[in-house]
Amino acid sequence: MTTATSAATTTTEFSSSLYDRIVEGGGMYTGVDGDREWAAEVKRLAKLRDATILAHNYELPAIQDVADFVGDSLALSRIAADVTTSTIVFCGVHFMAETAKILSPEKTVLIPDQRAGCSLADSIKAVELQEWKDEHPGAVVVSYVNTTAEVKALTDICCTSSNAVEVVQSIPEDTEILFLPDQFLGAHVKRVTGRQNMHIWAGECHVHAGINGDELAAQAEAHPDADLYVHPECGCATSALYLAGAGAVPDERVKILSTGGMLDAARETGKKEVLVATEVGMLHQLRMAAPGVDFRAVNDRASCKYMKMITPAALLRCLVEGKDEVFVDADMADAGRKAVTRMIGIGQPGGGE
Ligand code: 13P
Ligand code: SF4
Repeated sequence: MTTATSAATTTTEFSSSLYDRIVEGGGMYTGVDGDREWAAEVKRLAKLRDATILAHNYELPAIQDVADFVGDSLALSRIAADVTTSTIVFCGVHFMAETAKILSPEKTVLIPDQRAGCSLADSIKAVELQEWKDEHPGAVVVSYVNTTAEVKALTDICCTSSNAVEVVQSIPEDTEILFLPDQFLGAHVKRVTGRQNMHIWAGECHVHAGINGDELAAQAEAHPDADLYVHPECGCATSALYLAGAGAVPDERVKILSTGGMLDAARETGKKEVLVATEVGMLHQLRMAAPGVDFRAVNDRASCKYMKMITPAALLRCLVEGKDEVFVDADMADAGRKAVTRMIGIGQPGGGE
């Protein structure tokens, strides 16, 4: 490998003939194809490290295929809390690996590239949340799992897109709620629950916010028989419901779903065509779940550059070097654990469990 520091941390036991091909440049690890030889090496090294490999639905197809479990945020958090191996390799973005560490502090949690962040998690800082809390004493803080460990430490209960509605419904009706950071998910939850005393932070995911209502409307018109699977983080979630409300698209065609919910729906669909409004990595699992269905991205440029930093080279490097290890300050992890544990206790199993 081309970086100077890595050789010192590579022991003979974990050496790999593919390792020397890894190139670091442009903020990513590349140079290794996700082929069969690579997959066999990944499996061998993971066994040697006593590691379980988890992958989010937005990962590259090769990463999804080599993982022990593929799922949505909620399913992967639940699996991370239960795995019996001493190490978890989290192929996802940093907040996901941090959540696994909060739930399993005694385990070694590795992420193949710690630079894999999340624009949504970056849209609120702990100090901003503290100020917001001070303005609303007595409010319950509901944070989407796409937040940093510092923000989770100030949170009463976390949620993911698959259980956000149930989480909000679990809070007494007369209690004020601060919901953060995603404004589109917040709007969706407010619509479904009818909750009036819910304040919503104005954050967004740059990938989902970029999937707009005009594109969705044009595609819905061009594919009149297709179902619409829309992630609630999308800017077009509101447009999808508007289309349904205005009668332009029949109500039953529009499904607002988490990534795991999309897979559950795909397995049961009787449709020939489905339009998918979320990050494009999702198409891989959908096509495997329902090979007879034509799944089309509403926006085929909706790719999360952070998820795509988990390359075959990055995963190989991670298993050879035992890096990047994820650490969460013990007090902060203790403060956030209650909120994350409450999250994994709410909502039905699914999404990859
Ligand atoms: P899910 O919880 O639906 O897997 O979504 C995670 C995510 O990061 C969406 O951008
Ligand atoms: Fe974060 Fe958006 Fe990427 Fe999901 S798709 S990890 S919310 S930046």
